Amino acid sequence: MAYTNLLYEVSDGIAQVTVNRPDKLNPLDGDTIEALAQCFADIAADSAVKAVILTGAGEKAFVAGADINHLTKLTALEGRAWGLRGQQVFSQIENLPKPVIAAINGWALGGGLELAMACHLRVASPNAKLGQPEVKLGIVPGYGGTQRLPRLVGKGRALEIILTGEPITADEAHRIGLVNRVVPQEQLLAEANAIAAKILENGPVAVELCLDAVNRGLDMPLNEALRWEAAQFGLSCATEDIREGTTAFLEKRKAKFQGR
Ligand code: COA
Repeated sequence: MAYTNLLYEVSDGIAQVTVNRPDKLNPLDGDTIEALAQCFADIAADSAVKAVILTGAGEKAFVAGADINHLTKLTALEGRAWGLRGQQVFSQIENLPKPVIAAINGWALGGGLELAMACHLRVASPNAKLGQPEVKLGIVPGYGGTQRLPRLVGKGRALEIILTGEPITADEAHRIGLVNRVVPQEQLLAEANAIAAKILENGPVAVELCLDAVNRGLDMPLNEALRWEAAQFGLSCATEDIREGTTAFLEKRKAKFQGR
């Protein structure tokens, strides 16, 4: 499939989506946002794709933010619509019932960090720098940064990053839990693929239900979230996968899950 400003390939059930405008450090313009929406809708509908890796083309940037050329021209109403559409597409990625791993190969600024935070896991190369520099441009993060960043790293750390606009290093991002792992750039995609492959060894229905329990649960009061977890646990008890997983354990063999 061909998408504007995206490269797309699938290997062993793992899709790799690459934002592809490396000469401009892979910024997100309207066409790229719509391409991401279409691409993730196609991934959702494609049962052959079990996990996704999202990265940027080149060795310099994951995504260096929203396309600043576009930002200069926005009216208030256009700005609101632009923010809402981006938020919608990033929520579409977050709510994909298949694991999405961001492979952060360089700058992840503004919309780039917001895109990475919409993914379920993040691995970074040592040259990666992550930040929300919007205040330096006189604007507010508009693709979820003020909400997902504090949920990931806590209010104090998030406010330091958002209010100073200064990027943090990959090591610092790792220290505060913003990225899961830091690996040499030449191993980045292999590491993301290895994590995806590890997840794909597990019960597919359980993986989907876990994503849903965590995503939805974080938006609920704890008591309701725990009820939701119990409901998802109950649902997993009705699958063939639980029979296979528990039987395989007792028979001391590797489970062969069917995803049903
Ligand atoms: N939107 C549009 N173009 C961008 C961009 C963005 N967010 N980020 C980088 N580019 C373009 C630059 O304008 C430049 O284009 P040019 O070659 O036609 O002049 C090209 O990408 C390379 O960027 P450059 O600034 O020369 O690279 P650098 O290595 O000196 O600096 C950054 C890298 C990431 C520090 C710098 O590009 C930057 O600050 N970008 C903007 C980040 C930002 O504010 N993002 C949030 C937007 S809400």
